[in-house]
Amino acid sequence: MHTDSAIEVKNVSKSYRGLSALKKVSFKVRRGSIFGLLGPNGAGKTTLVKIMTTLTRPDSGTILIDGVDVVQSPSTVRAKIGLAGQYAAVDENLTGFENITLVGRLYHLSKSHSQERAAFLLEQFGLSAAANKRVKEYSGGMRRRLDLAAVLVASPKIILLDEPTTGLDPRSRIDLWEIIDELANSGSTVLLTTQYLEEADRLASDLVVIDSGKIIANGTPSEIKALVGSTILDVVLTDAKELYRASSCLAEIARSEIRVEVEDVRLRVSVDDRRGVLVDAVRLLDSQGIDVAEISVVRPSLDDAFLTLTRHGLIDADDQ
Ligand SMILES: Nc1ncnc2c1ncn2[C@@H]1O[C@H](COP(=O)(O)OP(=O)(O)OP(=O)(O)O)[C@@H](O)[C@H]1O
Ligand SMILES: [Mg+2]
Repeated sequence: MHTDSAIEVKNVSKSYRGLSALKKVSFKVRRGSIFGLLGPNGAGKTTLVKIMTTLTRPDSGTILIDGVDVVQSPSTVRAKIGLAGQYAAVDENLTGFENITLVGRLYHLSKSHSQERAAFLLEQFGLSAAANKRVKEYSGGMRRRLDLAAVLVASPKIILLDEPTTGLDPRSRIDLWEIIDELANSGSTVLLTTQYLEEADRLASDLVVIDSGKIIANGTPSEIKALVGSTILDVVLTDAKELYRASSCLAEIARSEIRVEVEDVRLRVSVDDRRGVLVDAVRLLDSQGIDVAEISVVRPSLDDAFLTLTRHGLIDADDQ
C-alpha cells in the first residue's frame, strides 16, 4: 500500500504497571526525511521505537509503517524496517565481518551475497581494517558503526535509530551524522531518537519534543526555537556569586524561566523581541550594582527552546 507517510503514529498510549510511558502520541514522518524524536531520559522514546518495531504492543492507538499496521501485520512491518537499538546488539565473540554476514543470513540473503554486503558495508563504515577482529576488541564508536552497518544489510527503506550517537566522542558523532545524512539522501526514511538538541537541529527536518510520554512540541527545528520567543539575552557576569541576584532582577523582563549556567557565569533570558530590551537589562543590573562582563541579544538555540518547553509543558493546556 502506498501512503504519503513512511510512518504514521496515531494516539498511541502505553503504560507499564500503572505508570504511563506514552500518552496519546501522534505524528507523521514524511518519506525520505530525517525525523527526530527528542526527549530527556525516561521521556518514552525507546518505548515508542519498540512499538514501531513490533517488540512491544501499544495499549491503544495505531502505528502504520509504510501503510502497514504494526499490531496486525508485525512480520510485514519487520521486513520493511531496520533497527539499531539503544544498546548495541552485536555478538562480542564474533568478528565484525562475521556479525554482518550473520545478519545477512538472518535476512535470508545467500552466503555469498551476505559476504559481499558485509565487505561493502565494513568498507563504507571505515571498519575494513578491523573486519577480522573480534567485536570485544572494538571501541564504543566502532561498535556503534558496526551496529549501523548491521541495520543496512538488507537495505531497509525505513531506518529507526535509538540514540545512535550516545556515548560517542565528538569526532565519531560527526562521522555518524554524515552517514545518517547519506542514508536520507539515498532515499531512506530515518527516524532517530536523541537527547542531544544539537543533533536534532543538525540532522532532522522535522521533530517532536517528548517529555514524560507527551508531545510538548512538534515542527521544524526553527519553528520549535521560535516557540520560545524570538530573542535571547545572553548575559555573562564577572562574579558567579552574583548569578542568583542578577537572575531575580532580570525576572521583570523575562518571558519564561531564566537559565543559569553557573560554569560559564552566564544567564540566558528569553525576552520580547523589541527595541530597548538590552538597555533595560543593563539598567536593571546596574541599579543593583551587578558587574557585567558581556551582554548581547542572540537567536535562541534549541537548548533554550527545549528547557522552556519541558519546564512549562506547553501542551498542558490542551490536556484538560
Ligand atoms: N519494561 C518496562 N517496565 C516498566 N517500566 C518501563 C519499561 N520500559 C520503560 N519503562 C518506563 O517507561 C518510561 C519511558 O521509558 P523509555 O525507556 O521509553 O524512555 P527513553 O525516552 O527511551 O529514555 P532514555 O533516554 O533514558 O533511553 C520510563 O519511566 C521507564 O521507567
Ligand atoms: Mg531510551
